[in-house]
Amino acid sequence: MALDEEAAENPRTGPNADAVSASEPDWSRERPEPGRYDPGKRLLAAIRGYQNARGPLAPIVRKLCVLRHRLWSAVTGCDLPLDARLGGGLVLPHALGIVLHPDAEVGPNCLLFQGVTIGTRDGLDGAPVLEGHVDVGAGAKILGPVRIGAHARIGANAVVLCDVPAGAIAVGIPARVREVRRAKSA
Ligand SMILES: CC(C)(COP(=O)(O)OP(=O)(O)OC[C@H]1O[C@@H](n2cnc3c(N)ncnc32)[C@H](O)[C@@H]1OP(=O)(O)O)[C@@H](O)C(=O)NCCC(=O)NCCS
Repeated sequence: MALDEEAAENPRTGPNADAVSASEPDWSRERPEPGRYDPGKRLLAAIRGYQNARGPLAPIVRKLCVLRHRLWSAVTGCDLPLDARLGGGLVLPHALGIVLHPDAEVGPNCLLFQGVTIGTRDGLDGAPVLEGHVDVGAGAKILGPVRIGAHARIGANAVVLCDVPAGAIAVGIPARVREVRRAKSA
């Protein structure tokens, strides 16, 4: 995909970027487009199907979702638990090698690039919490009981070991806050 096409499709840089809420999930961001190969959306659909299964057929639906989840986990190399706490509207533009701890929380309308790890830190209890509309750059690691505020952006390859305020940009190893923008209203 050409870079300008990618920028236009990216919910951070695309035409609707400023309209993205940090509290109201935009489910259209997860909807697979018919005929388009998008393993991230397929993986998320398996997780959503498992978590939303209700009624007498729920056990069968869940079993099918487990199989779909295994297939797309193997394809993508991602480790997103079936019971992951994922807000709606999550975008995985290049779903490759993303790892999420089962206790971590990801708020609505977040975006995780490839190679992101959201997990625990040796010797510390607790997992990260991402508030709404947080974008996490490629290869970034967010570790331990930290809170990433709404509309924050985490730079590519950053290693985040501390809280990041809403609307801030954090980059580097260990990550430092570079700039604080006024948080957009949700
Ligand atoms: C962190 C990020 C969101 C900042 O974007 P931005 O607001 O446009 O900021 P700028 O590019 O103006 O950079 C601001 C400063 O942070 C530095 N910086 C930017 N990204 C950085 C990163 N990932 N690691 C370390 N420093 C970084 C810049 O060098 C600049 O430093 P300076 O002020 O000393 O010159 C962006 O650089 C980024 O990393 N996005 C992730 C992109 C990604 O993962 N893409 C994958 C596509 S497949």
